[in-house]
Amino acid sequence: MASIRSLLKTLFDQFIHKDFHEAVAKMTLIDAFLFLIVHSIDKLGIWPRLPVILGLLYLGIRRHLHQEYNLFNVGRSAVGVRFNPMDYPYRTADGKYNDPFNGDAGSEGTFFGRNVLPVDQKNKLIKPDPMVVATKLLARRKFTDTGKQFNMIAASWIQFMIHDWIDHLEDTKQIELTAPREVANQCPLKSFKFYKTKEVPTSFYDIKSGALNIRTPWWDGSAVYGSNAEKLQKVRTFKDGKLKISSDGLLLHDKDGVAVSGDVRNSWIGVSTLQALFIKEHNAVCDALKREYHHLDDEELYRHARLVTSAVIAKVHTIDWTVELLKTDTLLAGMRGNWYGLLGKKFKDTFGHVGGAVLGGLVGLKKPNNHGVPYSLTEEFVSVYRMHSLLPDYLHLRDISAAPGPNKSPPLFEKVPLPKLIGLRGETALVEIGFEKQMVSMGHQASGALELWNYPTWLRELIPQDVDGRDRLDHVDLPALEVYRDRERNVARYNQFRRALLLIPISKWEDLTDDKEAIQTLEEVYGDDVEQLDLLVGLMAEKKITGFAISETAFIIFLLMASRRLEADRFFTSNFNEETYTKKGLEWVNNTESLKDVLKRHYPEMVEKWMNSTSAFSVWDSPPNADNPIPLYLRVAQ
Ligand code: HEM
Repeated sequence: MASIRSLLKTLFDQFIHKDFHEAVAKMTLIDAFLFLIVHSIDKLGIWPRLPVILGLLYLGIRRHLHQEYNLFNVGRSAVGVRFNPMDYPYRTADGKYNDPFNGDAGSEGTFFGRNVLPVDQKNKLIKPDPMVVATKLLARRKFTDTGKQFNMIAASWIQFMIHDWIDHLEDTKQIELTAPREVANQCPLKSFKFYKTKEVPTSFYDIKSGALNIRTPWWDGSAVYGSNAEKLQKVRTFKDGKLKISSDGLLLHDKDGVAVSGDVRNSWIGVSTLQALFIKEHNAVCDALKREYHHLDDEELYRHARLVTSAVIAKVHTIDWTVELLKTDTLLAGMRGNWYGLLGKKFKDTFGHVGGAVLGGLVGLKKPNNHGVPYSLTEEFVSVYRMHSLLPDYLHLRDISAAPGPNKSPPLFEKVPLPKLIGLRGETALVEIGFEKQMVSMGHQASGALELWNYPTWLRELIPQDVDGRDRLDHVDLPALEVYRDRERNVARYNQFRRALLLIPISKWEDLTDDKEAIQTLEEVYGDDVEQLDLLVGLMAEKKITGFAISETAFIIFLLMASRRLEADRFFTSNFNEETYTKKGLEWVNNTESLKDVLKRHYPEMVEKWMNSTSAFSVWDSPPNADNPIPLYLRVAQ
């Protein structure tokens, strides 16, 4: 056996990039073969162009390999406090008691996990200087948008999700960064202060320290409900299960002007609008359940409505938002497959969940599956979601009292600088603007593109907030801070990040981009040492797959973690049933396919009048998707 293995190893090594020899040596024989398949396809650079069915196979194999080799536990035993899931048939306020073998998993204040082993960067935290990186490679020169693909609702949506999933606990110690002379006159702040990320010992040998997530990483709607009992208390009315909302369909505010919502930190009115929409959704679910089941009390109505609303959010993200972000037939099939399985919606609606994860989908699986690692989101996940370049400089407010123009487009009314629409100031502005004008305006405006030189310069002198949504004294240079954060949190730099994800690393700048000016600037900042390239810069610079608004490198983390958010959660698997959700509740989830459906439920006239597009996440004056007579799985790449 040993000699067969060594013979195979010699054979494999001839075909496999040298950087992967060590990783492959640790794989099982079957996985080594599977890796050989994806690696060969990667060498040809053709996976996005494969026919849909082969593309799905490629992604399926990749996801399997990452589930095996890219989930690292941080600071938690594989088995913790056990409990009987029957005692908790609902999502708890702080995310506890979801995983029956590990009551704490996914709760507020637990460790971020890892997809890639940490890379200590203590001695190069400011090499190259983060303010130089931000100035020369990130700061916006001229706004580039995403055309018709992705609008400002889509940009707000992902921030809404970030506020559901992740935020880091900070230390009380401050750090100061100062702009070096070579860029100082181009930096809005010559220096800035911020709190270090709190480094917490794990008491484990392999990964000795980590950071804590102060939001519950489950897909549990915590941007609406909060991540603990104290917050939940503030947003509930304690009548008929409902949440607090203003009569104008927007969030309420406390005496200091802070919005009453699950999460209010570092937000803007795009996110508040979505929070308000999903409060309405929650309350509508409460009404529907109460009509059907008179005996349910306030607590029971709240619990069921939270389950339903969180599942609607997760579904919209999976089969609507992501499909617009990664606009190819393969990903359309893949994302629908995650929810409905390859057998599809009609089959699942008729026969229920049949087969395993592939045929029946992740949702409704008989058992949750965490692949042997307690659920958490990861540092690498945080890093690839650094997407502040989606934000423009102005919000284009539209006049919705006018008659619609071509393709249901509303006339432009006013361009409002984004800084006026963030934080406490923004909340006051939104009351003036109103829900519908805000939503229609975001719908008709494209988001920024995730590219070099497109990071909003107004975020280089941002007033950050504390967890309560109150402004801090010290302004920050956000792009420079983000570069620093990844290093401080020991997130691998771009090339090692790719390697660890079994993606072929770059060996020269030309492997990353064709843009001559970008190559020249990368050389100026990093010399010819591609290993020093910061992850955020690499993600923005990378040549994009046609139809993808994000880099392939970021996508691989999505592939793994988007599935994990569903598959590891018992409320999307073993407890995704009538008993837990109620019959009516489960029907509600099953009959909602998109954000457009949610908007139609609450603002039917707005949708009818102003939305021409199929998805609420693409620019609303784009044409509806044309019918394609070729069945999805039989399509070849466009
Ligand atoms: C006006 C809108 C926004 C503001 C004012 C804002 C502001 C901030 C601030 C101040 C931080 C903390 C930085 C730190 O101390 O490390 C942060 C973190 C972050 N933001 Fe934003 N942001 C906005 C929109 C977005 C959007 C559209 C995304 C898209 C995905 C996003 C993704 C993130 C991520 C992933 C983090 C890191 C969270 C963590 O460290 O756990 N943000 N943002």
